[in-house]
Amino acid sequence: MASFRGRSIVSIRDMSQDDLIKVVCTTEDVKRGDLTGFLNGKTVATLFFEPSTRTRLSFESAVLKSGGSVFGIANPKASSQSKGESFADSIRTVSGYCDVLVIRHPVEGAARMASELTSIPVINAGDGANQHPTQTFLDLFTIKESFGRLDNLKIGMMGDLKYGRTVHSLANALAMFSNELVFISPPSLQMPGHILKELDDGNIRYRNIADLEEAGTLDLDILYVTRIQKERFGDPLEYKKVAGVYRVTQETIDALGKDIRVMHPLPRVDEIAEEVDTLPNAIYFTQAHNGIPTRQALLGLVTGGLE
Ligand code: NCD
Repeated sequence: MASFRGRSIVSIRDMSQDDLIKVVCTTEDVKRGDLTGFLNGKTVATLFFEPSTRTRLSFESAVLKSGGSVFGIANPKASSQSKGESFADSIRTVSGYCDVLVIRHPVEGAARMASELTSIPVINAGDGANQHPTQTFLDLFTIKESFGRLDNLKIGMMGDLKYGRTVHSLANALAMFSNELVFISPPSLQMPGHILKELDDGNIRYRNIADLEEAGTLDLDILYVTRIQKERFGDPLEYKKVAGVYRVTQETIDALGKDIRVMHPLPRVDEIAEEVDTLPNAIYFTQAHNGIPTRQALLGLVTGGLE
């Protein structure tokens, strides 16, 4: 396993199975409360060029809880990019102010580009419809916490599989363990061909279906629900055609089986009814809260504060 010290976290594709296990195990140690103060003296910048609630705030909370300092921009209009400064110049500048850069950007590949412009670790907090590796780490941690394992699971991913970056990263990660994937989406929002090809190359079992009802016959362990990514549609009419296509209710849970766990990276729009929130099946708020120890663990590993 490559050391995490000094390493950028850009894509799950850059990770080995050992890397994923290392992050999940370190997160377990952090959540147990065994590790403290490991970011003492470290400064983290959060540069968010796209909206965020959970990712940015949980990163900031993670830094503070681990003894570090954090600053950043939450609104690109408040940065010099609105004066015409290039992304590259912003990165070159801010990387001299901090020990780690956390970046969210609407352009695919932006985090990779940033990581090539600086010698400090860059953490991708979402680049367009491409990848969202830190969400995947917290998803894996939550799965391990619920099931005690990361393999031999049957996982349904539902909703916008074309533009949803969380499911792209998660599919890459789950494919490194022995799992079966079921992709539930309208035909126009299916998992991109390049990811399906990677699954084919790795002999991963998966299928594409369009009906949530059909999922009821498949004995899923997890239903991972996603929002239709309205902001990524070029044509608002295309969005209207698929908006509201799936809705998980108490009835859905009854049909999927009483042991199903429902996950969601959040924010939700209308794809999970609030009546589901209080069922033992709903683990999406626990999942969101797991963002804190996960991001603490990642920051600790890339700064060398944790080994
Ligand atoms: C996700 C994202 O930004 O990709 N949100 C998050 O980070 N938890 C999912 C989404 O916006 O739908």
